[in-house]
Amino acid sequence: MVAALRIALIGAGNMGRQHLHHLQAVPSARLCALADPDPRAAELAAQWAVPHFRDHRQLLESVRPEAVIVANPNALHVATALDCLDLGIPLLLEKPVGTTSAEVAQLLHAQRDQRVPLLVGHHRRHNPLIARAHELLRQGALGRLVTVTALWQLQKPESYFESAWRREAGAGMLLTNLIHDLDLLRHLCGEVRQVQAFADNALRGYANADSAVINLHFESGALGSLTASDGAVAPWSWELTSGENPVYPHQPDQSCYLFAGTEGAMSVPQLRLWRYAEPGAGWHQPLATEVRATVPDEALRLQLEHFVRVARGEEAPLVSTEDAARTLALVAAVERAAASGTAQHPAAPLPD
Ligand SMILES: NC(=O)c1ccc[n+]([C@@H]2O[C@H](COP(=O)([O-])OP(=O)(O)OC[C@H]3O[C@@H](n4cnc5c(N)ncnc54)[C@H](O)[C@@H]3O)[C@@H](O)[C@H]2O)c1
Repeated sequence: MVAALRIALIGAGNMGRQHLHHLQAVPSARLCALADPDPRAAELAAQWAVPHFRDHRQLLESVRPEAVIVANPNALHVATALDCLDLGIPLLLEKPVGTTSAEVAQLLHAQRDQRVPLLVGHHRRHNPLIARAHELLRQGALGRLVTVTALWQLQKPESYFESAWRREAGAGMLLTNLIHDLDLLRHLCGEVRQVQAFADNALRGYANADSAVINLHFESGALGSLTASDGAVAPWSWELTSGENPVYPHQPDQSCYLFAGTEGAMSVPQLRLWRYAEPGAGWHQPLATEVRATVPDEALRLQLEHFVRVARGEEAPLVSTEDAARTLALVAAVERAAASGTAQHPAAPLPD
């Protein structure tokens, strides 16, 4: 039997602890060390009976893990990933892959030279609901995709904003939350050619927008919209409708994404399809509907199992650095569109 992969965790906050939870459940992986400057991380390491380091570089040098999960603050992602790549250590890097396209270009350069496996933690792509939706769209279950309507509307409590950084520029729902939806829209509908956006902070007056509407023109010709607010009382978001994370009370009868094509429509997360019994019947005919069910499973655990195979060179990463860089470039294009009031093109994130 192959020994469990020795994985170190860098950053043991909210997300790092979720990764720890799943490390307990995956026999092919085991925690070997933990790095986080917060004194509480030393207690956590003691509970797990693994060495604790304040500095991840000391961890990498002295423990030489076979793989690393990086869940430290966004601004440290690229520098930490470069340290791992330098030592040839495969990594699962939390999203966003970086904070700017320029710094992510450094990662792309480094990977060209070193070819060390790197998986970016856009974990929702591992959810069986998304895998099935992807398969149905690719198989042409809706014909040619015409439109997608995406909703992310919920209310964050005021306590969420007690941490000062969450009120300051650089945080906010676009980079923290909508990046997930934009990543899934790219994954499911293909690359985006052009975006328009309105964003407003009128509800709370903080540095980041609390409401936004985003229009997307995909390279396929399909059109999409994403309507978002973190200050509205509403049940329409991946968090509330998918049931992926039990901290969000589940709204199973509501949808967050509506896809419409030339031959049918589909709601997510229900995976309910609508089609005419006779193709091309038109609006006076009844629409037949059916649900393409999936077996629910934990996206973060599935991501970890995939990461072990990626680190061992058995599979290509489901979300590569370049792929995640394209999602980041889309987020940047939305920001530019909202700030300028003009349509923007996402920049290609490849190094020269
Ligand atoms: N995939 C998802 O759905 C998802 C959800 C939440 C957060 N995240 C990502 O996970 C990362 C962490 O977010 P979080 O919510 O856990 O934040 P957090 O503030 O709870 O945790 C961050 C941790 O990193 C530690 N840290 C700070 N500097 C460090 C350093 N130099 N080396 C090692 N550790 C350091 C902090 O002490 C803290 O414990 C972010 O990049 C975030 O975008 C992803």
